[in-house]
Amino acid sequence: MSKIYKPEIFYSDDEDFAAMAAGILFEHFEKATNPLVSFPTGSTPQDTYKELVARYADRRDVWDNMRYLCLDDYAGLPENDERLFKNWLGRQLLDPLKIKNRIVFNSAASDTEAEATRMQDYLDSNGSVDVMILGIGSNGHLAFNEPGSDFDSPTRLVELAQDTIESNARYWGGDISRVPHTGYTLGLGDIMKAKKIFLLVTGEGKADILDKAINGDVTESVPASILQNHPNVTIIADKSALFKFKGPKHG
Ligand code: PGA
Repeated sequence: MSKIYKPEIFYSDDEDFAAMAAGILFEHFEKATNPLVSFPTGSTPQDTYKELVARYADRRDVWDNMRYLCLDDYAGLPENDERLFKNWLGRQLLDPLKIKNRIVFNSAASDTEAEATRMQDYLDSNGSVDVMILGIGSNGHLAFNEPGSDFDSPTRLVELAQDTIESNARYWGGDISRVPHTGYTLGLGDIMKAKKIFLLVTGEGKADILDKAINGDVTESVPASILQNHPNVTIIADKSALFKFKGPKHG
């Protein structure tokens, strides 16, 4: 049985979350040398990215040395689709901070298996991710590792869960039929090899799943529960996301 670790937890009032998260992340970036970093997309980190840009864009020493590695993305969309995570993140964070070194999935690749292998090869030959920043899905997914994903899964093409498709329909004007059904994702095995993991969680809607992931059983039906087996996890949350939290277990 794998060892269970206790995560470090930082929290703030809901309205102070972005400033707190940006400060904690930047402090970590500042100390890293040429780090390979994965950033999540979605609603949770949006204001944190605005804060990073507003407060720290002039710190060229930090951003010029950073390598961005795409955590997950849709498959089968044209490369210029604005909803691709790499393009969304480009607009929100990478372009304003002029982070040029980007290792991303080619959504339009015709050989999807070769595309996933290309990314896995990059990771295998360049070392693991230094700073892995994650969000958590309401179903407990990490990146596109949906419930049921093997804990040692590699980077691969996956079928998106129905609740992920429904949740992401907001980016297609609510039209579920237009949401891609497949995506690329780093595997849970790759995520677990990261040297440092930050999990960003906000809002009452995530309170149940956060408590389940950190205090419940470690099970493949809740992919984020694997974080209990990682020795270096920091949770950055607002009070709303923590209101059901019974306190981390450890042993
Ligand atoms: P959200 O997405 O920040 O939009 O809730 C998180 C996720 O699905 O991983």
